[in-house]
Formats: sequence, structure tokens, C-alpha cells
Amino acid sequence: MSPTVWFLTGNEGKLAEASIHLSNLGYRVKQLMVDEEELYEPQAESLEVVARSKINQALNHLPEQFGNNDMILVEDAGLFIKALDGFPGVYSSFVHSTIGNLGVIRLLNHLSTEDPVSSANLRAAEFRAVAALWCNGEIIIGEGICPGHIGDELMEGNGFGFDPIFIPYDLDEHKNPLPAGTYGDYSTHGKTFGAIDSVAKNKFSHRVRALENLFSQLPSA
Ligand code: IMP
Repeated sequence: MSPTVWFLTGNEGKLAEASIHLSNLGYRVKQLMVDEEELYEPQAESLEVVARSKINQALNHLPEQFGNNDMILVEDAGLFIKALDGFPGVYSSFVHSTIGNLGVIRLLNHLSTEDPVSSANLRAAEFRAVAALWCNGEIIIGEGICPGHIGDELMEGNGFGFDPIFIPYDLDEHKNPLPAGTYGDYSTHGKTFGAIDSVAKNKFSHRVRALENLFSQLPSA
């Protein structure tokens, strides 16, 4: 029987995205639920430090059904906005729960998508994710990035967090991100992550890229 990957997250959106991707690789995914009061998120300078801390915390909360070959997955992500020198980055949760998506749009109100002189995208941003997997006492790390830009209005529907304001750049036929303004084989046609479904989002997702990077370091299930 293939090992179960216990994903420590209270976020159903993240769980759904990871489950779609990891079931394609032959892994079973289950949610590792821990009371929010029993977990803390260190205010660290890097996503990897946060992810490693969450693994160490998860080890104290393993379910009874945790099997000998089972693994623990944690993931930490953030939105890094170029015009704000990478802010909110590791402060993304705080920013989302305080000023929210409309607050981020307000912070960028004075910037247009395209600089008239250099053609650079002044609203450029990227999601970054770090996934950490505990496997037989070792921690393996994977990283993923999704470049794009911040839209000027909310486009909601599905998704969570900053999905309603983030528009990913198009991808080429190998699913590699293209420069701003370039049309590619994979495109959301100007829609935000919030306005597309999770299968479509997974083609671009920083989280899927981090998981791909992580699981490429393991033999398949
Ligand atoms: P976390 O600490 O990894 O849960 O994420 C930090 C913040 O970024 C939270 O406010 C999340 O909602 C947001 N976030 C993380 N990943 C995504 C994503 O894929 N789409 C939108 N927002 C995200």
C-alpha cells in the first residue's frame, strides 16, 4: 500500500490543490488537523524556516493511524510584490487578515500594469511556496514560484487568500512562465486565480511547483 502523506493545514483550498497533484503521483493525502491554538507560526525571515518549524510542531500531534512509512507535509507560501520590495512576503497572512485584498490594491493604485517607457510590469508580483516533507526522520524541501501581477480589481469565484487579485503570467508549452505580456500555450486570459478553477490553477501554482520539486527528490510511490 502506498504511504499516506499527512498534510498539516487548516486550509481546504491548499488541501484540495495538493490532493489533486499528489494523487496523480500515487500518494494518498490526508489532512493532519491540529487545533490552531496548539500551533504557532514563527515570524521568521524565510518561508523555509517557517516550514521547518511547522514540521517539528506536527511531530507532536501525529494521529493514531500514522503508519510506519507515512510522511508529514507542510507548506508555507507568501505573496511578494516587486514595487513593495517583496512585501508582504513572510507577512502575507497578517496583511491578508488586516488590510485584505482591497488594501493591497489600494497600495498599488498609483502603478499601472505597463511602464510607458520600459514596458516593465509595474504591478509585478510572485507567489512563492516552500513545501517540507518529513520522511523517515529526514526533512526534504521543495520550492516553487509563480510569477504574475496584481490586478486592479477583485475577480472572485473560487480560491482563497490573494487569489482574487493575482493574475499569473502565461506559460510556454513546457509550463515554464513567460515574461510579462507574452502570450503562451497556457493562459488564464487575464483572469485571476480566484476566477479559475483549482485544476486550471494547478498548472500555474507555486504550491504545485514546490511539490513537484520536492517529490522529484523521492522515488515514486
Ligand atoms: P500561508 O502562511 O502559507 O498559509 O499563507 C500566507 C498567506 O498567503 C495567507 O493569507 C494565504 O491565504 C496566502 N496564500 C498562500 N497561498 C496562496 C495561494 O495559492 N493563493 C492565494 N493566497 C495564498
